Amino acid sequence: MLTHEAALEWIVRWDRQQEGYLPDREARFTALIDAAEAAGRADPLVLDLGCGPGSLSARLLDRLPKAKVISIDADPLLLGLGRAAYPQLTFVQTDLRVPGWTRALDLDRPVDLAVSTTALHWIGEEDLTRAYTELAGVMRPGGLLLNGDHLDADPALTPVLARLERAVHDKETERVFAENPPEDWRSWWDAINADPAFVNLSAARAAVRTDHTESPMLSQHVTALRAAGFSEVGPLWQRGNNRLLCAVRG
Ligand SMILES: C[S@@+](CC[C@H](N)C(=O)[O-])C[C@H]1O[C@@H](n2cnc3c(N)ncnc32)[C@H](O)[C@@H]1O
Repeated sequence: MLTHEAALEWIVRWDRQQEGYLPDREARFTALIDAAEAAGRADPLVLDLGCGPGSLSARLLDRLPKAKVISIDADPLLLGLGRAAYPQLTFVQTDLRVPGWTRALDLDRPVDLAVSTTALHWIGEEDLTRAYTELAGVMRPGGLLLNGDHLDADPALTPVLARLERAVHDKETERVFAENPPEDWRSWWDAINADPAFVNLSAARAAVRTDHTESPMLSQHVTALRAAGFSEVGPLWQRGNNRLLCAVRG
């Protein structure tokens, strides 16, 4: 059986594994939540897109305790982990690539904030444009999308910038973890799939789509957001190609 304590321990291990790819992960969470707080509403309705086990959702709710956070993911194992660790959050299983994904959320008012970290790069350009359009349809005018992800510059337009942005990120990662590298993605998944407490969740995961395509570039996100009806679009925080992109629902 998966206990609350065991789930929290697995999430500590998840966070460490994710940091191995993103030494600035906590700083980016903080910048994102600073922006969410500065948006001004104490009790926003928030969607966390591709929430995983809820690392961002939990931090956001700590800072904005009156928020209602709906944490969305397609992966039943990560959702099961999040549900066991964070009973204060609402987790919903839905695939952002499938048209009509917002129907599963049972929304009773327009969304104030959509947030996401290290998730939307899994979704190809066409599905992403459709998902942004559906998202805009459930958001209030002036609502914000805050997306922290590796959002590359277009090497065809700015080849030097694209190369240097990646280098800044890669060098920082090498420097921070030179002595004590964390386990990687594969090893974390092998370990959790081998834990008997996850037998059912592993089987449920094996039955859903967890594939992903080539990550859209920053310019493709901006184009897709504008096409979906977002007006102001630009980065609020950046280190190399690791950006926090903000878009305002027009
Ligand atoms: C690298 S994890 C990041 C999780 C979490 N946001 C974090 O920062 O720890 C990427 C997440 O995006 C989710 N994801 C990817 N594609 C998705 C889709 N089409 N619909 C819903 N969730 C998706 C994955 O299941 C996974 O949980």
